[in-house]
Amino acid sequence: MGLLLKNGRLLNLKTGELEARELRIEGEIIAEVAERIDAAGHEVIDLNGNVILPGFLDMHVHLREPGFAAKETIETGTAAAARGGFTTVACMPNTRPVIDSPELIRYVYETTAKEGSCTVLPYGAITKGELGEELTDIAALKAAGALGITDDGVGVQSSSLMREAMRVAAALDLPVVIHSEDEDLAKDGCMNEGVVSKRLGLPGIPGLAESAMIARDILLAEDTGAHLHVCHISDAASVELVRWAKSRGLKVTTEVTPHHLLLTEEIIDRTDGRDANMKVNPPLRSEKDRLACLQGLLDGTIDMVATDHAPHTEEEKQRPFATAPFGFIGLEIAFPLLYTELVQQGTLPLHELVQKFTVNPANVFKIDRGSLEAGKVADLTVVDLEEEREIAAAELKTKGRNTPFLGKKVKGWSVLTINQGRITYQNH
Ligand code: NCD
Ligand code: ZN
Ligand code: ZN
Ligand code: ZN
Repeated sequence: MGLLLKNGRLLNLKTGELEARELRIEGEIIAEVAERIDAAGHEVIDLNGNVILPGFLDMHVHLREPGFAAKETIETGTAAAARGGFTTVACMPNTRPVIDSPELIRYVYETTAKEGSCTVLPYGAITKGELGEELTDIAALKAAGALGITDDGVGVQSSSLMREAMRVAAALDLPVVIHSEDEDLAKDGCMNEGVVSKRLGLPGIPGLAESAMIARDILLAEDTGAHLHVCHISDAASVELVRWAKSRGLKVTTEVTPHHLLLTEEIIDRTDGRDANMKVNPPLRSEKDRLACLQGLLDGTIDMVATDHAPHTEEEKQRPFATAPFGFIGLEIAFPLLYTELVQQGTLPLHELVQKFTVNPANVFKIDRGSLEAGKVADLTVVDLEEEREIAAAELKTKGRNTPFLGKKVKGWSVLTINQGRITYQNH
């Protein structure tokens, strides 16, 4: 007996048209997509005219296991992913211990198999312990199933070590995923360096701390032939550098977060730097930077949206701005926020936004996901584009409450998410 989704509208990702379609799932696979399918012998779910999309992919999340279960677990983080419409997430290795060995890559796969509500693809660290001193066994990480290598949370400061990592990764055809931050320029900054940091007397992180590292790593990628993926781009000059790299035909890709597309340092000014729920790395920047990120997303310089879902405990986020940890949650609210703020405002058509959550990340990371044809794995989400609901702390599946978006009213919530043919989230 299969699962039959009736009364849905399938979004054509090429034309943007909404097409009345029924979809039949057998086991893990989409068995049939057609205007009408005989319901006999199948379990039927009525979608009430809601819109069927490929399940979203988020190439940048922090699931916090092993080691930081007070912030998040694979169980709670993937449940949040499913509620947000995600069916695949790539998780970061800045855990305790750092995911820098094949055993720890396997630990993520095994824990996900037991407790997960979506597909989880772990990254392995570039350097042992993310200490920036000694390379990991990159070939062994790949053999265990690492999607790519990254020291996210910190930048790799040594240029020669990064060059060696890229040489090895290029030979293995593994993406090198960079947290671009020059520590010598960033120092102990806690927000964007600019007029607001000066007024509040808080130490600033210049945009240069990001862009200078991206420039270095683009040149290293050209030198080594590695695929360079730039995490959480946030600065105007950074976007310009990636645009230049692409124009040279280099294998350079990048992602942007919803918060860098929608917010600026202005919100820290308004609250006089008293709320560390507005503290994130890279920091919320100027309006000029925000608009450059938006333009980069519109013109394809920026390939995809990624949340950088980074939960922390409430206790940690109640600390003073200068000493609280960096990070926002994002999985459950990314799509509704961008649907509401970009699609409904007329900045971007729905199908183009959906591409940036689906086919684009799938293509960049060579994952066979992001399309809803017969024969493909049944990873999908159904969104209600009409009902407006508040982002409510009590409804969050993540353990984190650290987001400046609590209380905001948005549309575009998922009502059903299916991962490998299994219902992982259902509401209504
Ligand atoms: C991330 C975290 O908390 O692990 N924090 C953040 O502000 N983005 C680290 C990171 O993504 O660099
Ligand atoms: Zn059947
Ligand atoms: Zn980072
Ligand atoms: Zn991160």
